[in-house]
Amino acid sequence: MGLEIGERWKEIVDGLYTDVVITDKHGNIVYANDSTEYWFNMEKEEIIGNNVLELEKKKVFYPSVARMVIESGQKQTLIQQTRQDKKLLVTGNIIYDDMQNIEYIVCYSQDITEIEKMKAYVKKVESELENIKKELQHYQELQKEDSRLIAKSPKMQRVLSIMDRVADTDATVLLTGESGVGKSLLAEQLHIKSNRKGAFVAINCSSIPESLIESELFGYKPGAFTGASPKGKVGLVEKAQNGTLFLDEIGELPTKLQAKLLMLIQDKTFYRIGDSQPREVNFRLVAATNVNLEERIKEGTFREDLYFRLSVIHMMIPPLRERQEDLLSLLMNMTKKFNKQYGRQKELSHETIDCLLRYPWPGNVRELSNIVERLVLTIEEDIILPEHLPDNIRPTQLAAPFIEVGHKSLQEIMEDTEIRVLKDAREKYTSTTKMAKALNVSQPTIVRKLKKYKL
Ligand SMILES: Nc1ncnc2c1ncn2[C@@H]1O[C@H](COP(=O)(O)OP(=O)(O)O)[C@@H](O)[C@H]1O
Ligand SMILES: [Mg+2]
Repeated sequence: MGLEIGERWKEIVDGLYTDVVITDKHGNIVYANDSTEYWFNMEKEEIIGNNVLELEKKKVFYPSVARMVIESGQKQTLIQQTRQDKKLLVTGNIIYDDMQNIEYIVCYSQDITEIEKMKAYVKKVESELENIKKELQHYQELQKEDSRLIAKSPKMQRVLSIMDRVADTDATVLLTGESGVGKSLLAEQLHIKSNRKGAFVAINCSSIPESLIESELFGYKPGAFTGASPKGKVGLVEKAQNGTLFLDEIGELPTKLQAKLLMLIQDKTFYRIGDSQPREVNFRLVAATNVNLEERIKEGTFREDLYFRLSVIHMMIPPLRERQEDLLSLLMNMTKKFNKQYGRQKELSHETIDCLLRYPWPGNVRELSNIVERLVLTIEEDIILPEHLPDNIRPTQLAAPFIEVGHKSLQEIMEDTEIRVLKDAREKYTSTTKMAKALNVSQPTIVRKLKKYKL
């Protein structure tokens, strides 16, 4: 067949889109087809007669597949780069002579520039996907954080929906409610939901001495006053740049500082102590208090203008006793949390849950959290029973049916009852005299009975 084609093979190979380069066993190019001109951007005549090593040196293509074939004595396939920054997948095939030595090397290539581009593109997309995955994880974490906040009751749902609506605005938020209702937790949540890049900086106005609040908040210039650090100090206001400044117990802020805070809110500028240069800041202000600021205004201890500035968005957090729907969830959640934290497997009995649901929780969620933590930690039994509860939570069981009948003697039942009555009285009254009066017995009788039952 080859004989029939004869010299016309060149015509055939010239018609191929693929470049074909043939070298002798020394790498001297003896033939190149028409496509080679396009692939390497050189006249055929410039290529033929050259040695591949030279062209490789000139980086017409790199590395040379013919050289690799000669060096290895085997067919080779590799990725080659051309002067035009094309990427070629080149194969060097061997034509042997009668003695099975290399006679010619036939090289041809395939343009994989696009494939390489695709690969780079896929890599980029993959890395972007990775970033998105990370971001997603971040948001899932946030949601987990979010789920720490129990809000099943309609009242809390309303609070949260207001929060969602104002989270990404600059509006100042005032959180009011009894101690332990979750004001600090909500302030943090508000910051997380605001997507502000800066930090959440909290300061409790009641726990810092009045003389220090100003320097804590605004910082000072080096040597601003005796005892000041020679380096000066950056105040919390500056640390909250692009973030959230949370002023807890704002009701305790001294009047002098109320004026400075008002200026800060209005102008977004402040001065470090001892500094005459005003500084600009950008932060979201959240304030919280458990006192009635309107009363403080009437008393003259809180500035009305500051109150108006602070309460642009006023969120009132209801006490836990008005959020029955949250109570059970909180109990379950806190038990789970502390079990996990301390490696315990405590459970609350139905009766215990019953008692806890009836208790008015004057200390709100903080009190609930403390009690559950203490129970999980200190009770030896796996099931926590009403008798394990602190006296003030356990309701007096006077009204409870006397299940002891049939198991205990009248004498024992009477004594049990006496113990309960005494415990109850002791909780209600501060002295044995008052207990005696309430129970209409003499004071020495009370003392004697307390001693008898080792109360
Ligand atoms: N809705 C809630 N869900 C879960 N934990 C809460 C909730 N509200 C408050 N807590 C927890 O109760 C404790 C007291 O809350 P905190 O925000 O400090 O109250 P406040 O600032 O109003 O005194 C914190 O440990 C807080 O995490
Ligand atoms: Mg707080």
